[in-house]
Amino acid sequence: MARTEARAEILENTETAPEVFRLRLQAPAIARDAAPGQFVMVRCSESTAPLLRRPFSIHDVFGPDVFGENAAGEGESGIVLLYRAVGEGTRLLSAKRAGEFVDVLGPLGRGFGPFKENSRALLVAGGMGVAPFVFLARRRSAQAEITLLLGARTWRDALCLEDFAGMGVPARTATEDGSLGAKGLVTDLLGEAFRTGAPDVVCACGPAPMLKAVAALCLQEGVACEVSLEAAMACGIGVCLGCAVAKRPDGQGYYHVCADGPVMRAEDLYASGRLAAL
Ligand code: FES
Repeated sequence: MARTEARAEILENTETAPEVFRLRLQAPAIARDAAPGQFVMVRCSESTAPLLRRPFSIHDVFGPDVFGENAAGEGESGIVLLYRAVGEGTRLLSAKRAGEFVDVLGPLGRGFGPFKENSRALLVAGGMGVAPFVFLARRRSAQAEITLLLGARTWRDALCLEDFAGMGVPARTATEDGSLGAKGLVTDLLGEAFRTGAPDVVCACGPAPMLKAVAALCLQEGVACEVSLEAAMACGIGVCLGCAVAKRPDGQGYYHVCADGPVMRAEDLYASGRLAAL
């Protein structure tokens, strides 16, 4: 799989919600080769602290060459990352300005599988888990009838709704405090959606308990489901074993989230026993 190590210019790094930043990077080769659900590793500092790159899902891509309109790839072209500044690396990254450069490696990992023509797809997101779904919807909305189900703690945490509206993708929202959409969890919305007609495929990204509940519901209903797993990553390319998670509760065998995932089929997680351990 093609991957590029690039010194990427920052075109924009703006706070779009409290502590949430949108980072646009000039990275044409990564944008050209990226598939929805894949990620990149970014070095957040020029110094050795923090030493390791950090993983970020690809939130979106932009540029004429990405969409096949300009084979020469001239002009701005690259990837967009959406991240919350919560730790040392992401805080350092949030202080960077347009015109500075960062080292990026990608695209990495296994993304979401293709949708069948004219199928119905539900994207189920919890909090920042919505980040990769903008790219997924942009790439696939001509192929499939896509609906977003978004769960958040409050209206402030319900991100990217304007992006989906701009693509004509309908969205339903659930917030824990009821400040936007239905009061409750996104899994409540999924249960309702199943009662009104099962989709062909469900893609989920968010906190582990949400992924587990979504995957279990899909397995019970016989609906294909892919979930995007999170793990601490040091290399992102399958060599350090830092992202290894036991496949089975008895510790037999391992998945490497960076190479086997981050997107995995719910039935594979279930068959290996990993679903129970999420
Ligand atoms: S992050 Fe190194 S093996 Fe996955």
